[in-house]
Amino acid sequence: MNGQSPGCFAGMFSAWRWLTGLFTMPVAARNRAGTCSTSSAASAANGGNQREGVPFAALPAEVTAAIAQCLSSYADLCAFRRIDKSRHTALSHTVLLPILIRLLPIVAASLGLGVLVEVPVPQLTQGVAVTVALTRALIEQLSRRLFMLERGGSWARWKPVVEMLYLLRGKRPLVLRDDNFGVFGSRAAFMSETEAVRQWKILSWGATVNQGGQQRPLMDGDSILNQWPGYQLPSLLDSASPLFPHAPFDPADPHTQLDGGTYPNYTSMVAFIVFDRLDEGNHINRIRHWSSYCRASAAYFRAGDRLTASHSDAAQWGAAVFDQKWEDGWHRRLVVLGSEAMGEGHMAVIRLTRTNGRRVEIFTTESAPHDHTRTVVMRVLGDHLGGMVWRQEDET
Ligand SMILES: *[C@@H]1O[C@H](CO)[C@@H](O)[C@H](O)[C@H]1NC(C)=O
Repeated sequence: MNGQSPGCFAGMFSAWRWLTGLFTMPVAARNRAGTCSTSSAASAANGGNQREGVPFAALPAEVTAAIAQCLSSYADLCAFRRIDKSRHTALSHTVLLPILIRLLPIVAASLGLGVLVEVPVPQLTQGVAVTVALTRALIEQLSRRLFMLERGGSWARWKPVVEMLYLLRGKRPLVLRDDNFGVFGSRAAFMSETEAVRQWKILSWGATVNQGGQQRPLMDGDSILNQWPGYQLPSLLDSASPLFPHAPFDPADPHTQLDGGTYPNYTSMVAFIVFDRLDEGNHINRIRHWSSYCRASAAYFRAGDRLTASHSDAAQWGAAVFDQKWEDGWHRRLVVLGSEAMGEGHMAVIRLTRTNGRRVEIFTTESAPHDHTRTVVMRVLGDHLGGMVWRQEDET
């Protein structure tokens, strides 16, 4: 995230004195917005909102340009501001605003979610005078976005699910606005929520699915809309499930249970639910299915092998992998090939199931003759199993 050029540091130091007044919001606004440091609380308490010092506009142009170039993250901005705690009042909000506006797309692009998630700068209503109050409100909104995006943890885990949401929403990118960032009432509530859950709450806000001919929200608080019987509350496990003895336990994205199924992380649980919605709504079509009950066959063995292949194998296929298991030995895996493998806005999914037999199903958004899908299927399954699945040669 810190793409700074070496020359920047000198620039920062020649300008730091003017920048130390950056966050002089009232304490209440700061707490709501979740801005960065507590050091300005003291300055606010000392009457920190009075204006003094050199106006930013009076700085030489090369200094102001250097400042803007050096700050490539919200944390930078906060660190920068902490250099001098004694002077918090030198800068006006009208100076801070363009810096935050410049930071937002940089930080959004660094999340690893690709082009399907947009985080627009809140818009000023045209023709309205840019008053101090308005500027302050904008700074607050921008600060909240930057804080949540930067401190929210690793967002990239959601890339395959975000691609599913794109399809579910009729090929519209996800646009994160005030409502998305408003799902948490306070910075503390945001920070204390499990990382994967807090990210999903923001990403999924406003997502709806068709349930019995009616659009209903996908999430209702912590509950997720399952096809049957409706909203259900997932339970996040606080230690590894015996069904996934080898899956790493990550408290940021823990093993999760929902409706009798167990998942090696919360992300997998969401991926299965959203995928079912895609399938049900015909946003993706099942074009092939194959099954084998022939334990001695090479294809049967190979299907089992693909169910247990490691995640580094999946990375080589260019796929994301999600798992679901039941107590009785059922195991289901989604091998998701998104934009990178299938081209922008397209997806193929290989669903592998172990019951008392082996089952492979192929889903795709690509239209016939499915050449691209065929290629990725062969890559993941190999020519033998891939060929049998493609010709739908069941083994009984
Ligand atoms: C979640 O589990 C799946 C397997 O179901 C795995 O492929 C994926 O990498 C895990 N996600 C994270 C963020 O660890």
